[in-house]
Amino acid sequence: MKHIETIREMQSLALGWKRSGLSIALVPTMGALHAGHVSLIKCACQSVQLSGKVVVSIYVNPLQFSPNEDLAKYPRDLQKDMRICQEAGADAVFTPTDSLMYPFEEKSGDPRLKHSTYAVEETLTQSMEGVARPTHFKGVTTIVAKLFNIVLPDYAAFGNKDFQQAAVIQRMVRDLNFPVQIIRAPIIREDDGLALSSRNIYLSTEERKSALCLNQAIKKAKEKTSKDGLPAEELKLELKTFIENNPNTKVDYIEFFNPETLSPVSLVSTGTQIALAVFVGKTRLIDNDTL
Ligand code: PAJ
Repeated sequence: MKHIETIREMQSLALGWKRSGLSIALVPTMGALHAGHVSLIKCACQSVQLSGKVVVSIYVNPLQFSPNEDLAKYPRDLQKDMRICQEAGADAVFTPTDSLMYPFEEKSGDPRLKHSTYAVEETLTQSMEGVARPTHFKGVTTIVAKLFNIVLPDYAAFGNKDFQQAAVIQRMVRDLNFPVQIIRAPIIREDDGLALSSRNIYLSTEERKSALCLNQAIKKAKEKTSKDGLPAEELKLELKTFIENNPNTKVDYIEFFNPETLSPVSLVSTGTQIALAVFVGKTRLIDNDTL
């Protein structure tokens, strides 16, 4: 497995592969890899089979964090991540630095020298994560667009753990004609139902217990859902009370929406998507499922 640290080297490796007729699958990550990421690497391997290469990018993208978020303490363990990528079957790991990805930011005293071109999706980002974290998706779409131009993938794998993110990337690819096929992979969970996340390591033993309430709330919503519509606002209130009965929890949002358009629904029925964000102590966790 190759370890690539510069954009120039990554682009020329990708171009070489393409010229030899190989297809490329990209798995963009921020590292602190777990079984959720591994499942994406395996999907990527399947998509290119024997006639292609799989690249995992590991880059904690400052542009998608707001100043009050966990950029500085985001978990980083490159050696462990490299081992995981190798075992999962990746052909290359791309780990650029901030000064390569955003070289002009360092000279930002002069605004004319600043990085100033962004990819922005304006419809699907108007709810949930886009409201709770107003600059987040601009950072995500911009870095993913940059990675697409650097790694030149035919396929790129995203997890439904970040359901809205995957939908936003799919829309960007459609609107801006990126020649990339997006693969969406299911959520990988712990045995007790907690969705795997790099941020789970922030949780204390007590908080880890409380964190189960996200998946339990989804299960509760599933039990109540049928073909007949249930008023979304009533169900939201009930789930909020259920969640906040657990120690150290605060609901950021609970949303019911159409999984294709992400438009909110006023009546919840079979096939409606639920997504929620909950603070457990200081850690913000998200989860979602189809009801
Ligand atoms: P990160 O949080 O590292 O996630 C990388 C990919 O792994 C995303 O597509 C995410 O949805 C997927 N993933 C995370 N947890 C998962 C789980 N439990 N099951 C299945 N897939 C899971 O998402 C990002 O990084 C960044 O925003 C990125 C796209 C890399 C842009 O910086």
